[in-house]
Amino acid sequence: MDDHIISRASACGKIILCGEHAVVYARPAIALPLASIRAHAVITRGIPGAGLCFVAPDLGRRWLLAATPDDPMAELVTTTLRRLGVAQPLDLRITVTSDLPIASGMGSGAAIATAVVRALAAALDRTLEPADISAQVYDSERRYHGTPSGIDNTVVAHEQAIWFQRRTEPPHVIEPITIGAPFTLLIGDTGVRSATRLPVGDVRRRWQEDPTHYEALFDQVAAIVTRTRTVLASGDLGTLGALLNQNQELLERIGVSSPELERLVEAARSAGAYGAKLSGAGWGGVMIALVDDRSADGVRSALMQAGATRVLQTTVGAG
Ligand code: PMV
Repeated sequence: MDDHIISRASACGKIILCGEHAVVYARPAIALPLASIRAHAVITRGIPGAGLCFVAPDLGRRWLLAATPDDPMAELVTTTLRRLGVAQPLDLRITVTSDLPIASGMGSGAAIATAVVRALAAALDRTLEPADISAQVYDSERRYHGTPSGIDNTVVAHEQAIWFQRRTEPPHVIEPITIGAPFTLLIGDTGVRSATRLPVGDVRRRWQEDPTHYEALFDQVAAIVTRTRTVLASGDLGTLGALLNQNQELLERIGVSSPELERLVEAARSAGAYGAKLSGAGWGGVMIALVDDRSADGVRSALMQAGATRVLQTTVGAG
């Protein structure tokens, strides 16, 4: 066996600007790609006769597809190869690495899966359309989350700011978002890892017990998301910040915030952010704060002092 690289591919991370959770219940949400924070897949020749081997150095794991056919990653590869017209197992080694912390609301699962699908297509000299890649990854996300809305796999596959609204049957509404003026977000990580399916499952149980209450909250989130889209086109940071704050208040009422997230949100606001909210599934993971050049450094320090394990910065709509 040699380490000759057959193909390599990467995929971006993502954050949800607004509308998480309500998006599972067919309301719109806005998601943004994180182009500079990525997952990577490298395909090299495998051991003859061993079939597909996965290597995840970040996790210290190595496993064979044949030994774990029910593993979501193994299923993703099997269905992707089938989609690419390959029926027999291939002797390949797929090494996955990621800059994205897992279970933090930054789309690590969707990014790794997208990188793997892209690398497999490239290894077979094929190109898959973003919609095709997104559909493959959605099936794999279902194994982890149960009822994902599909927003993560969509924004990662298209790698652009999107308005997403789930329909009962695909095609879902996927529209590019117009950003009138670039804006900067700080992403503060609570360091608390929380699997998406836990808060998503908890919200579902409570929605089943009291659908009227939760439907009304989801409608209020949808109204904020709709206003956010208009404000993004005009570039009014003050109003955008206020909308993020309102979304955070609704997420608290939906029951997916946490003391660690709220500490960071409060710290960001007190240090001069226009607005701040949790991003993603909640109960941990990351929050976002809308800043400008004057406030960015102060907000970053305030987030670190309030317990953030790291703070990333992304500028949306530049270039
Ligand atoms: O994967 P996360 O943590 O970014 O959460 C996804 C957003 C949710 O709306 C909570 C779930 C979903 O499937 O849309």
